[in-house]
Amino acid sequence: MKKEIILTGITPTGTPHLGNYVGAIRPAIAASRQTENEAFYFLADYHAIISCHDPKRIQQSSKEIAATWLALGLDTENAFFYRQSDIPEIMELTWILTCMTAKGLMNRAHSYKAALADNDTNQSNDPDKGVTMGLFSYPILMAADILMFNAAKIPVGKDQIQHIEMARDIAGRFNHHYGNHFILPEAVINDNVAVLSGLDGRKMSKSYNNTIPLFAPEKALRKLIMKIKTNSLEPGEPKDTKGCTLFEIFQAFASNDEVSDIKARYENGIGWGDMKGLLFDYLNQHLAPFRNRYTELMETPDYIESVLQKGRIKARERSVPFLQALRKAVGITPICG
Ligand code: TRP
Repeated sequence: MKKEIILTGITPTGTPHLGNYVGAIRPAIAASRQTENEAFYFLADYHAIISCHDPKRIQQSSKEIAATWLALGLDTENAFFYRQSDIPEIMELTWILTCMTAKGLMNRAHSYKAALADNDTNQSNDPDKGVTMGLFSYPILMAADILMFNAAKIPVGKDQIQHIEMARDIAGRFNHHYGNHFILPEAVINDNVAVLSGLDGRKMSKSYNNTIPLFAPEKALRKLIMKIKTNSLEPGEPKDTKGCTLFEIFQAFASNDEVSDIKARYENGIGWGDMKGLLFDYLNQHLAPFRNRYTELMETPDYIESVLQKGRIKARERSVPFLQALRKAVGITPICG
């Protein structure tokens, strides 16, 4: 029986942070080692240029994300790890799918509707102000990423569920018209992973500018942890672990026994300064070996590139023949048949 494919993309516009690690990277790396499915992970650089028009940032972020995943032990022998832009078949498929996608479906995309709503709020005289065709067609590119490899399970954040449903719609329409070529993909939302809060107590997110970079150097890591917002209870006063960012981060890394121990210390009134010191020591110790490997990788970009090139070759063994079949299905074939 064919193995089920799990696939997800990472948009290279920022630096990986603790929230990304706990919510997405750590489970993906664990999944890269199992052999009952096939895991496909890629840098979605053609997605990045939709929202980010700073070439240096995209280049740097691609390097940081690839180095992060490799430093954390991504199994690239078993899993497929590649760059979207290295697979030209994805772009060709995007066009084929664009011709099977109702414009009305794209009108309903949350990200597009949010842009329209902003323009309305700001009383702009152009309702489509700031909307490129890239933003508008974004879900079609994402559908191509998924359908190119006939992926069945797509681990994503809740904000991406609608895009997976759109990929299903597009695949269904294609299948209906041209025959059964695509598996209908499903979103997988992992409710067992923690959603971490950031420095200000809101969800840790690049857009809130409240993140702790996963591989911040030791000094910077300490400084950031010291900045995490707490309430104003004094040392000696019992404290609640619920809703406490320091505790949440600790819990995402520590064993059950260590967590129970810290809970007792909260009840006994541990001071915030002490808890911050403890969290820093704990995280720093846990992350140091990976951070060292990360630093080495960042200094050997040729090696990172060679891993991505191997990934390109492996992924194209699938995408080249499949695109050929899809072209034929829509009537794009040599004249002689
Ligand atoms: N749009 C996704 C995000 O912002 C990234 C992404 C691009 C993706 N292509 C994908 C995720 C295909 C899953 C499958 O998170």
